[in-house]
Amino acid sequence: MPHPDLPPADSPTADSPAAAALSAESPSADPTAADPTAAELTLAEKASLTSGLGQMTTKAIAHAGIPSVTMSDGPHGLRLQGDDPENGQLALRAVAPATCFPPAVALGSSWDVGLAHRVAGAIAAEAAAHGIGVVLGPGVNLKRSPLCGRNFEYFSEDPVVSAELGGAMVRGLQDAGVGATLKHYAANNQETDRMRVSADIDERPLREIYLRAFERIVRRDRPWAVMCAYNGVNGVPLSENTRLLTDVLRGEWGFDGLVMSDWGAVRNRVAALRAGLDLEMPPTAGRTDREVEAAVDGGELDAEVLNRSVARLIAFARRSARPASGDADALHARHHRLAGEAADNCVVLLKNDGALLPLDPAAGTVAVIGELARTPRYQGGGSSQVNATRVDVPLDCLRGLADGAVVEFAPGYALPDGPDPEADPAALAEDAVRLAAGSDTVVLFLGLPRQDESEGYDRDHIDLPEAQVALLRRVVAANPRVAVVLSNGGVVRTAPWDHDVPALVEGWLLGQAGGGALARVLFGAVNPSGKLAETVPVRLEDGPSFLSFPGAKGHVRYGEGVFVGYRGYDAARRDVGYPFGHGLSYTTFAYRDLVVDTTPEGFAVHVTVANTGGRAGREVVQIYTAPPAASRVERAVRELRGFASVTLGAGESRTVTVEFARADLAYHSVRDDGWRVEGGTYRFEAAASSRDVRVAVDVEVAGDAPRARLTARHTLGEWLDHPVGGPLLMARLAALSGDRPSPLADNPMLLRAAVGVPVEVIADFAQGLISQEALRELEAEVAAGVEPGAGAAGNAASGNVGGA
Ligand code: BGC
Repeated sequence: MPHPDLPPADSPTADSPAAAALSAESPSADPTAADPTAAELTLAEKASLTSGLGQMTTKAIAHAGIPSVTMSDGPHGLRLQGDDPENGQLALRAVAPATCFPPAVALGSSWDVGLAHRVAGAIAAEAAAHGIGVVLGPGVNLKRSPLCGRNFEYFSEDPVVSAELGGAMVRGLQDAGVGATLKHYAANNQETDRMRVSADIDERPLREIYLRAFERIVRRDRPWAVMCAYNGVNGVPLSENTRLLTDVLRGEWGFDGLVMSDWGAVRNRVAALRAGLDLEMPPTAGRTDREVEAAVDGGELDAEVLNRSVARLIAFARRSARPASGDADALHARHHRLAGEAADNCVVLLKNDGALLPLDPAAGTVAVIGELARTPRYQGGGSSQVNATRVDVPLDCLRGLADGAVVEFAPGYALPDGPDPEADPAALAEDAVRLAAGSDTVVLFLGLPRQDESEGYDRDHIDLPEAQVALLRRVVAANPRVAVVLSNGGVVRTAPWDHDVPALVEGWLLGQAGGGALARVLFGAVNPSGKLAETVPVRLEDGPSFLSFPGAKGHVRYGEGVFVGYRGYDAARRDVGYPFGHGLSYTTFAYRDLVVDTTPEGFAVHVTVANTGGRAGREVVQIYTAPPAASRVERAVRELRGFASVTLGAGESRTVTVEFARADLAYHSVRDDGWRVEGGTYRFEAAASSRDVRVAVDVEVAGDAPRARLTARHTLGEWLDHPVGGPLLMARLAALSGDRPSPLADNPMLLRAAVGVPVEVIADFAQGLISQEALRELEAEVAAGVEPGAGAAGNAASGNVGGA
């Protein structure tokens, strides 16, 4: 059936020679320049340009030389869905094969920025071969709750890890000439009610946690496109959110690319255009195009608003449209090797008591137990799902590397997509236990069945299937020499059983070549070097967001504020299963000589790392800062500022340097309506994990001058906290009391009771302490102090009353 939105037969599509010619002739894009081409377009053409052509394409307008752009999911490999209107979004079918690289959950655990850049470059090469000009990724949403069904598509619970890995992917794609789409902007942290829910977030966590990765990537890496999320923030759907789409994204961060909707995120197209959304995806068979046209005709929508988006679309199309330029199949063998190399760096060794791993190939019989060893899970479900070019099966790879060892297999449990889904569970377990008892070592593959996690729904627990845990207990009883290998996209808790197993490997979802990586790690051909980019909790209930996820009645309140992930576990001093940043190696590393160079712009943190074990390995060095002890702001115990990856031979040592900006120390001040660096002594820590600080030094940091003025309506506590107002008030009180003890300053109990009281009320209560007139004078002195020249005219407060 012809699709109503299909252009006339002579319109170029991305694959057509006409489009190729158009894009070849296109001048290099200056997305900020108003495009004269727009003047050649009718209103109907302009309106139609601001929605797609098909599921993954934008419209071409041949007479104006505007080509069509073909896009594709997704973040860890291409979902070559094709653009068959019959094969709509719900089908989510990947048609052509593409390399399935490690999904973000795994790549995040590599903490390897160079690797992420190379992986993205390879995805771009496949995209270019297919004529795809824009990739729909990476996704840099934070893992707020372990339950989010899409956590496998996101890097971390920490914005710095997300920004560094996500930013590297943006650069990797765009350095190879293919556009990146940063998604899902913003605060899309759950799947429950994702198309309607409002994420209700205070300004500090919004800025410091949820927008941070987006901000850093937009400013530094300049993605060609941003995808607006389905959800709302503080009651306003993202697709209509002028503040986030225009004021913050473009106004503050200088974004000059295209904003497209997530697929089906637009509710009111006219409102969306006004808010700054340029492209609605997928199209609505012309319905919303006609609404835009009518709105301009009727004067409801300023024609300039439409023109602005049309200019961006033209720039986007000229920059991104490309003909298919090669043979993707020819890339697949090389990219499979890269996928394997990437997976090598993503595996996290959580535990290795008695050096059970690596397996000794001469150590007799290895029992490989678990259907996941034969039917691997290597990616998650939904729009990111790739039709892999081939899949490395862990069991085959283990056999390939076994050398002298004998590898025997028993499935132990069935999987719905395994070869024998109806097999008798009791018999499977019995066989596995028998095999374990007769073997020298056991490698037990456990994990989440495919159906347990996907885009579109959240999980309701973080446990392994009960049958798998029961099997584990029986296997361990039969043979305690067990290494467990996990396959899961969302984190699973290990506390109920991991004390019984000497070795534990977190294999996440490792992409199509993950089977080889697991075999190499288990046999020691690769020394594991991944580190957790998210906390493994002891219990789901311990998590900072537990009580406010996933919300109800269209709202989810981010009640934990800035205390997301390890920031929350640390603040509440909760035990964790394995902390953020943790990951072992077959060698050991020592840290020494932490030196911090301070410049007005920021810090260069140098630390010397030595490989003190017997084999080469890679260490991810993490730099955290702890805020000044006297901080008046609620802050995390420590926050990651940067990291570096260093590979060292046995006995080798090297000094690594991590740099970060002074501005990174800032918190977002509601009172000052902006970022403020608090002055004081910060502790700079070089750490092997968030709970394994190896060396630390104190660094004095000068604070920012205050911007907020004070009024008599501010409390005594707010006056005392204010670096200008506090000393002025205390000096005035001392002067007023002369030689007598001050009724307030010299009475600790009264002082404590008064800190929450506005000073104008104190002046009335404590007659004779300070007059209302004196307070007005002080207000003017503070205004002059924070804004020289403000004088008495500055009596009106510019800052909010209260707040950090
Ligand atoms: C997903 C996006 C994806 C888009 C296109 C949406 O459902 O949220 O991540 O890029 O579909 O497939």
